[in-house]
Amino acid sequence: MPLFVVRNDITKMHTHAIVNAANETLLGGGGVDGAIHRAAGPELLEECRTLGGCRTGEAKITAGYRLNSRYVIHTVGPVWHGGYFGEERLLASCYRNCLKLAVEHHCETIAFPLISAGAYRYPKDKALRVAMDTITDFLNDNEIMVYLVVYDKDVFQISSRVVSELTSYIDDHYVDAHTNRSLESQRFPRMYSESDCSNRPQSTFRPVHQPVCAEKTIAAPLPGFSTGSLDDVLSTIDESFSEMLLRKIDEKGMKDSQCYKKANIDRKLFSKIRSDKFYKPSKPTVLSFAIALELPLHETKDMLLKAGFALSHSNKFDIIIEYFITRGNYNIHEINEALFAFDQSLLGG
Ligand code: APR
Repeated sequence: MPLFVVRNDITKMHTHAIVNAANETLLGGGGVDGAIHRAAGPELLEECRTLGGCRTGEAKITAGYRLNSRYVIHTVGPVWHGGYFGEERLLASCYRNCLKLAVEHHCETIAFPLISAGAYRYPKDKALRVAMDTITDFLNDNEIMVYLVVYDKDVFQISSRVVSELTSYIDDHYVDAHTNRSLESQRFPRMYSESDCSNRPQSTFRPVHQPVCAEKTIAAPLPGFSTGSLDDVLSTIDESFSEMLLRKIDEKGMKDSQCYKKANIDRKLFSKIRSDKFYKPSKPTVLSFAIALELPLHETKDMLLKAGFALSHSNKFDIIIEYFITRGNYNIHEINEALFAFDQSLLGG
């Protein structure tokens, strides 16, 4: 099951459980702790009083009361003291223990804040990496949908070098589709001119380099498009997206589960794609698989085309993906950090 990184207030999430970044008393505080107690109402504190506190790295569960969630799972993250006092191990155990409790209570969805990344001063980028790695590792063997709720934008400490490189790459490639007329002429093939139409049989197509036909506008055929009957044409239909995906998984020597988990795609969605040769995925889904399979740019474009899409230079999301693929960087965390920094939706998010 996938891990989604979303920007939200955790008290607004509609998941079966939300996680509280508490302190060892479990008697409330500021930050997430304060927000959750305020949203849940006083009954939450009353139940917390019965728990006898919680040790750092461990987790305890209560009802959600007035929250949209059935449960609140309280955990206590480590305070950052420089990283030499077992902070990473303790933080990872927070995520693992919360996930175990959620699965034990049959939760199908859970939302985490970035534990310890606030008052406990854990560096946000390190805290994010521990969260992503621990959750992803747990999802290799368990089925639960996880939302990592990021509250402030500076979580992704994307390097200023990448930001400036990406900014100039986007400036060089970004084309505003509303103002660039020349793009339109590339979108639609040229039509025939009047002088060249009189003696042409109008029922067949002609190569696109012929002049435009004023009164008869017959679109020129796509390159490689046969000019036989419709049955002939349909009998030569290309490999579908689904067929190409399965072929590439085999060529890469990957298992299906390895691929869809690396692509951060839900098992149920993958089985739909696998069972329906003509399944039409979304563009982010195609790109997530292209990243997981580490396809070069031309194969990524080919896979997109089979799903009816193209990389567009009037879409910053596409340009950022193209930037990473052309540099051979398929690290989905780094790609998501860049997408997040440029206010784009995330892969698998
Ligand atoms: N929704 C989602 N995330 C939030 C919210 C919210 N409503 N409020 C804050 N955050 C983010 C912060 O921006 C930070 O990235 O949650 C992360 C954790 O910050 P804290 O709440 O300060 O938690 P933590 O760093 O673990 O410190 C815990 O703070 O509130 C006290 O009682 C708590 O003593 C404990 C300590």
